Amino acid sequence: MFETFYNFTNTPFSRSIPSKNLYTGDYDELIERLKYTAQKQLFAIVLGDSGCGKTTTLRRFVDETQHDNFFSLYLSDSKLTPRTFYKNLLEQLGFEAKYFRNDAKRQLHKEIEIMKGLNGTRPVAIVDEAHLLSKEMLEEIRFLLNFKMDSQSPMALILSGQTDLWDRLKLQSYAAIRQRIDIQCIVARLDRSKTNEYISAQLAFAGAGREIFTEAAIDEIFKFSGGIPRQINKACTESLIFGAQNRKNILDDRMVKMIVEQELIGGQS
Ligand SMILES: Nc1ncnc2c1ncn2[C@@H]1O[C@H](COP(=O)(O)OP(=O)(O)O)[C@@H](O)[C@H]1O
Ligand SMILES: [Mg+2]
Repeated sequence: MFETFYNFTNTPFSRSIPSKNLYTGDYDELIERLKYTAQKQLFAIVLGDSGCGKTTTLRRFVDETQHDNFFSLYLSDSKLTPRTFYKNLLEQLGFEAKYFRNDAKRQLHKEIEIMKGLNGTRPVAIVDEAHLLSKEMLEEIRFLLNFKMDSQSPMALILSGQTDLWDRLKLQSYAAIRQRIDIQCIVARLDRSKTNEYISAQLAFAGAGREIFTEAAIDEIFKFSGGIPRQINKACTESLIFGAQNRKNILDDRMVKMIVEQELIGGQS
């Protein structure tokens, strides 16, 4: 497709960019906070609008910490129930979960204590898409943190979700969970200059060796995307497809505007 026309060696603006090639920017600070959470076995919450880079940053965190004695357990399931929660965590540790929820919970705690005692491995449970979790599930997470009468939590816990997760946690009925949050991380949208950096990083990863979008084209991309990486990706990919078909080495604001208006805004339901 467009890769050949632009002499790319990798596909930019895609979901599958290796962790080491991701755009760093402010995400580095988020990674540091997550590493601190893992080291001190704390409870962190990651909040941000859809498409801002939460899941991608969690993936990078898992990749970067897997050789450091951390054991990350990643869950992303909107229909998670306490039973499937323990079952899933135990399976990731290599155990078959006991049938009853309370048995499975005790089993998880026991296995984690053994794992920590044997080789000092520090477990990190990551629950993505947490804004979709039921009240019952969120409360179960509270019990998980309560283990050992509050002296020390058995594992680090990272809850990641869209901003409305915070609106829910602000409710009185969630006060017990909210009060236990040690670290709060906000994944913000990119501003205009970071959008520029993000696009340059993607093109560098692709092996472009030169700029393809004009400054005014980036203004249009920023306007359309609101600085949300997933939307930037859409605008850039569509523009590159159009550019390759029409043999345009440079993509300007006029082209981007037309594509955004005809293909993206018009095409969104
Ligand atoms: N640091 C980054 N470097 C490169 N691409 C990124 C980065 N963060 C996000 N993206 C891109 O944006 C898309 C949306 O990010 P994602 O992590 O799925 O958002 P969220 O989980 O917040 O909804 C990803 O598929 C990826 O292509
Ligand atoms: Mg996500």
